[in-house]
Amino acid sequence: MASGILDDTGPVHIVEPCCGNGILTASTTFLRSPHTTTSVGIDRDPERTQRFHTVMATVGQSLPGFKLDIADVRYSSFDGPTQVPTYILAKHACGPATDIILDRIGSGDIPNLCASVIATCCHGTAQECIPSALASSGAVTPSEWHQLAKFADWVTASGVPEEIATIGRVAMRVMDCLRITALPDHISSHVTELFPSSVSRKNHGIVMTT
Ligand SMILES: C[S@@+](CC[C@H](N)C(=O)[O-])C[C@H]1O[C@@H](n2cnc3c(N)ncnc32)[C@H](O)[C@@H]1O
Repeated sequence: MASGILDDTGPVHIVEPCCGNGILTASTTFLRSPHTTTSVGIDRDPERTQRFHTVMATVGQSLPGFKLDIADVRYSSFDGPTQVPTYILAKHACGPATDIILDRIGSGDIPNLCASVIATCCHGTAQECIPSALASSGAVTPSEWHQLAKFADWVTASGVPEEIATIGRVAMRVMDCLRITALPDHISSHVTELFPSSVSRKNHGIVMTT
């Protein structure tokens, strides 16, 4: 919904990096018409990629799912039908995976890119991986980034008081807000709540239009 693909009545192409089992990839064609929607899923995990194909067979879809590391992906290989607006959707792209996707969105090498939504996740795994554009901009130092990522891990740590989990959620959002400061000017972006916190404490994400 945040991407606007449900309002786009024409044909669209959807690429889902970090698609896991492909539930969202499949859902996109149910939420829209399969006649106006082409979707592709990408994940590096062999078991999840295998389950992706099982999910598609179960729901009677034949959407492509690729076992690839998103760092190695050439998005032009996943180009949709000619001139069709492309949407990037990623649900819970773990830590550094979010930064890889943002880097590719910012680089402008995704054909016909219209809008993108990344529900971010596992910020703690990005402790040692400050995005290079952020490091060079001076918006945050590597040690500040490291500390924020440690705080962000409190969101799902078991047994932490609610106040501490709240600090973790704020740290997640601060990291995402810092991430978008490194995007080029032609991309309009904001950090927002994508679904209720009752569904998941990791309910924020980055919305971008190109
Ligand atoms: C938290 S899971 C989310 C899966 C799915 N989107 C969902 O919401 O159920 C994160 C997924 O990202 C994938 N992933 C993480 N880093 C990746 C990378 N560099 N390249 C491809 N897939 C990656 C993992 O294999 C995993 O399936």
